[in-house]
Amino acid sequence: MPSRSRRPRRDDPLTAALGYFRDLGVREIHLPAAAASGPLAAGPVVPTASPARARRPGTAPERVPAARFEDLAAVEAAVAGCQLCGLCRTRTRTVFADGTGRRRLMFVGEAPGADEDASGVPFVGRAGQLLTKMIEAGMGLSRQDVYIANVLKCRPPGNRNPEPDEIASCRPYLDAQIDFVKPAVLVGLGKFAAQFLLETEEPITRLRGRWGVRQGIPVMPTYHPSFLLRQPERKKEAWEDLQEVLRKLGLPIPGKRTEPGS
Ligand code: URA
Repeated sequence: MPSRSRRPRRDDPLTAALGYFRDLGVREIHLPAAAASGPLAAGPVVPTASPARARRPGTAPERVPAARFEDLAAVEAAVAGCQLCGLCRTRTRTVFADGTGRRRLMFVGEAPGADEDASGVPFVGRAGQLLTKMIEAGMGLSRQDVYIANVLKCRPPGNRNPEPDEIASCRPYLDAQIDFVKPAVLVGLGKFAAQFLLETEEPITRLRGRWGVRQGIPVMPTYHPSFLLRQPERKKEAWEDLQEVLRKLGLPIPGKRTEPGS
């Protein structure tokens, strides 16, 4: 009797899941030891993004449009269950975002630290307190009215720098957040966020203070609050960058009187 071919059906959930991860750039699936000797159902599938998919200088990154997700809550749910890189094994919590974005201003940082990993909220440690001060005392806005997220949604152990494959794995989530939040201005905090948003390898010292564009949105790179804690004398430059942001948003600059007719 001729054997019937077992072509996967498109509506098969496993095929759909594999297609989803393929679109995210995943090229290998690592099975836990228990699953290796038994049926797939014996253990969870742990996909990992191949480091080879990490963007090389000069190559265009893959974009997974927000349409891939139904809404921001769906992106958050995907992040909460994400196992695309090794950070899922060391994280306490995923750190998705904070704030409503009502002011159409979005800040992007690097990655959660210890306080954020414990609380699940971005920028709540010392650097976060400085960021809150920059937003509230400096810019005259409420922290809850802006939107704050990170390039990575999980803490790198010991706060080491993000690895290229980790950034590549997390890319679709931040792209989707930007697509759904639709900020009028993005602020890239520090080297990793600025380089991610502007798809460049230029150092932050050269990027800061100069407008760029991502997904059609103006991007202002500036120093990371952690750097400003170490080098407070650079706060003046960061304040100049944030004033530029306020101007772009058509908002008043606190402490500057607007003369009639000026
Ligand atoms: N540093 C970041 O880049 N992000 C955080 O959430 C906290 C510290």
